[in-house]
Amino acid sequence: MPTQTFKLNGESVTVDTDDDVRLLWVIRDLLGVTGPKYGCGINVCKACTSHINGKAFNPCSVRVCDVDAEDEITTIEGLADGEDLHPMQQAWIDRDVAQCGYCQPGQVMAAVAKVRQCQEEGREIDDAAIEEIRNICRCGTYNRIREAIKAGAENM
Ligand code: FES
Ligand code: FES
Repeated sequence: MPTQTFKLNGESVTVDTDDDVRLLWVIRDLLGVTGPKYGCGINVCKACTSHINGKAFNPCSVRVCDVDAEDEITTIEGLADGEDLHPMQQAWIDRDVAQCGYCQPGQVMAAVAKVRQCQEEGREIDDAAIEEIRNICRCGTYNRIREAIKAGAENM
């Protein structure tokens, strides 16, 4: 069976699995990192949103063989700086955003990536920018998500 190597939350990991296994299953089922959630498996719901080299992506739609040994994958588990929560995580807690919680790791990861993107492009984190985030929340927490993104962005 082929060997696959990449970086996950700051550590190099190697797994034996077929080339065409999707990265989400490798992360969750083989490596036991379950922050990225399975919703649709076809790059629609965004529940699995994580970062690759600092940018948002959806590991349910990426084959493990398409990730290189030097690619840095970050999940919600790798977002905090040790004991210090990321400002976006703190904003989520302060506003009590989560309802059932299932979509929320992906929402936070999408929010962080969107704020970084806007900062790089010199854009405001306004409603139009937040509207570009397509993560689905079946509990309808969108208003609190919006407030938390704006608050978290102030400390990023
Ligand atoms: S599970 Fe990845 S986008 Fe839905
Ligand atoms: S909090 Fe339940 S799906 Fe978003």
